[in-house]
Amino acid sequence: MIDLLPIHNSPEANISYQHIGRTDITRFEKMHVEVFSESGLASIAVAREIANLIRYKASKGEACVLGLATGSSPIKVYEELVRLHQEEELSFQNVVTFNLDEYYPMAQNNAQSYWSFMHEHLFDDVDIPPENINIPDGTLPLEEVYPACMAYEEKISQYGGLDFQLLGIGRTGHIGFNEPGSSNQSLTRLITLDHLTRVDAASDFRGIDKVPKRAITMGINTIKKAHRIILLAWGYKKAKVVKKTVEGKVSSAIPATFLQEQPNTTILLDEEASAELTRFKTPWLVGPCEWTEPLKRKAIVWLSHNVGKPILKLTERNYNENGMSDLLAIEGSAYALNIKMHNTLQHTITGWPGGKPHVDDSYRPERAEPAKKRVILFSPHPDDDVISMGGTFLRLVDQGHEVHVAYQTSGNIAVADHDALRFAEFTHNLNQLNKVSTQEIEEIVTELQREEDSELDSLKVRSIKGLIRRGEAIAGARYCGLPDNQIHFLNMPFYETGRSKKNPLGPEDIQLVETLIKEVKPHQIYAAGDLADPHGTHKVCLDAIFRAIDHLKDQSFMKDCWLWLYRGAWHEWPIHEIEMAVPLSPQEVEKKRQAIFFHQSQKDGVMFQGEDSREFWQRAEDRNQATATLYNQLGLTEYEAMEAFVRHHF
Ligand code: F6R
Repeated sequence: MIDLLPIHNSPEANISYQHIGRTDITRFEKMHVEVFSESGLASIAVAREIANLIRYKASKGEACVLGLATGSSPIKVYEELVRLHQEEELSFQNVVTFNLDEYYPMAQNNAQSYWSFMHEHLFDDVDIPPENINIPDGTLPLEEVYPACMAYEEKISQYGGLDFQLLGIGRTGHIGFNEPGSSNQSLTRLITLDHLTRVDAASDFRGIDKVPKRAITMGINTIKKAHRIILLAWGYKKAKVVKKTVEGKVSSAIPATFLQEQPNTTILLDEEASAELTRFKTPWLVGPCEWTEPLKRKAIVWLSHNVGKPILKLTERNYNENGMSDLLAIEGSAYALNIKMHNTLQHTITGWPGGKPHVDDSYRPERAEPAKKRVILFSPHPDDDVISMGGTFLRLVDQGHEVHVAYQTSGNIAVADHDALRFAEFTHNLNQLNKVSTQEIEEIVTELQREEDSELDSLKVRSIKGLIRRGEAIAGARYCGLPDNQIHFLNMPFYETGRSKKNPLGPEDIQLVETLIKEVKPHQIYAAGDLADPHGTHKVCLDAIFRAIDHLKDQSFMKDCWLWLYRGAWHEWPIHEIEMAVPLSPQEVEKKRQAIFFHQSQKDGVMFQGEDSREFWQRAEDRNQATATLYNQLGLTEYEAMEAFVRHHF
């Protein structure tokens, strides 16, 4: 058995990580953390580290013992390992794997089993001998679970322990399924899943009731004995638990903190997951900063919030006591700095999202000319337009711009069977009344009368669900004042899998977006920059827009085209990042609510609710009101609500 050094020092691994932000070890961080600009690059680095280890072990004639994780975090690592196998002759003949966990009870062939996950994402595509694969068995009778767990531990020990352990982290702070309360000494065992973990798994299982209540998991002690550990965390949803893990006290309340005691652990983050770490969130508390304009804005908004005063009332003392004395030194005085920042924020507010015609626009977020703009509002699902920017949508139309709305996907998987059944039965009955052949619709009715929502809808059921959302979207857009020829349904094919997991973006998807942009030649594009929706559809839709824009960048009309990003139902831009804030009056808030109400299939208990039990219109209103309140607390005018946008420069 060899002892591996932490990989960043390891000659055989030969990996160099890219650093983002401050690289000095801060007094806040108790673990080795590496931050990447995006998760794909981090995943490639991890896969290379694993590949180097496999090859190193093979060169010594030894088995390479890998502890593996499931979930969304390691998917791209496995993709890269498969690529290395297929294109760069990486062999898995000497690899032995132990998976962290499995739901209990769980049949292997169930689509949600970790057994299925591992075969789908890795094992079926590499040359690992099947007898080298170990996954906790979710099919055992209860009385056999404990002995099987002990045997699992024993088998790992017989191989000399895990050479490498890959981990994700749950929002409860679990690693494996070691939920809060797990002891540092815990071994492989049966565990009850935390409610939050089950909420997070609910959309994969189509409802929390169907998520198993228990799982078999390796223990904290089993994991910590690995010679090398890499934990992956992507996305803003993980940012809070990452901060607790890296900067918090070691405690079984956040089991991942036990990794602070394992010196060969590295945490790999993308920028979003790192956002709550002190060195990124409030770098002025860590040490001297390079004071860029965005950082000044972030710091002063934070300071105002932290001391509970509007910007114009901040004093030299407030700055000095909160790590910003160097900023004061650069800017001269609190007075000058306060006025400058107050004005900067004031200039982000406009009631003219398409630009105010015929006025000096030097301090306005949008250009005055042309007075009438062509606008495309891209909406990933058929309701994001009104949920996220319904007020701005209404204003753009009222102010005479040529607004087109483009629904990027059909949104069919978010329609419940009972809603679809109502429409199918109605059509069926109407057909019978008119003595029309009804066989097709009869088949749909039969399928929808199933006991439980299915994992996979047939094409026919998908089409009826898609039509329901289409009808709702048309009604909503008409209500906002659009003529039908400015309402576009792209039905991007990547979405049409009939289940939560979508296909990767293809050329056909990008082409659809590109064709519309070419046709409309917009001065403004609005797109969802909300990367937090549950199944990642918003991100894929945004990627399609970026790629279409990239293809079109040499077209002359693109020189006049600005891209504004809004955020969806799931979270809002932080105040310091907002570049255009559109105020809504109480009447406009009501009108926006009406527009959202047209999306009836997404009301009253939606399919993919997440852990937030509020309806979409409530979330939108609360969020828009919160933005207005925050602006007001900074000392700016008090509005009822505000929609927020960030400009993307390409
Ligand atoms: C998976 C596992 C879990 C996940 C964690 C994060 O085998 O043990 O600890 O790693 O729940 O899941 P994702 O990556 O889906 O966010």
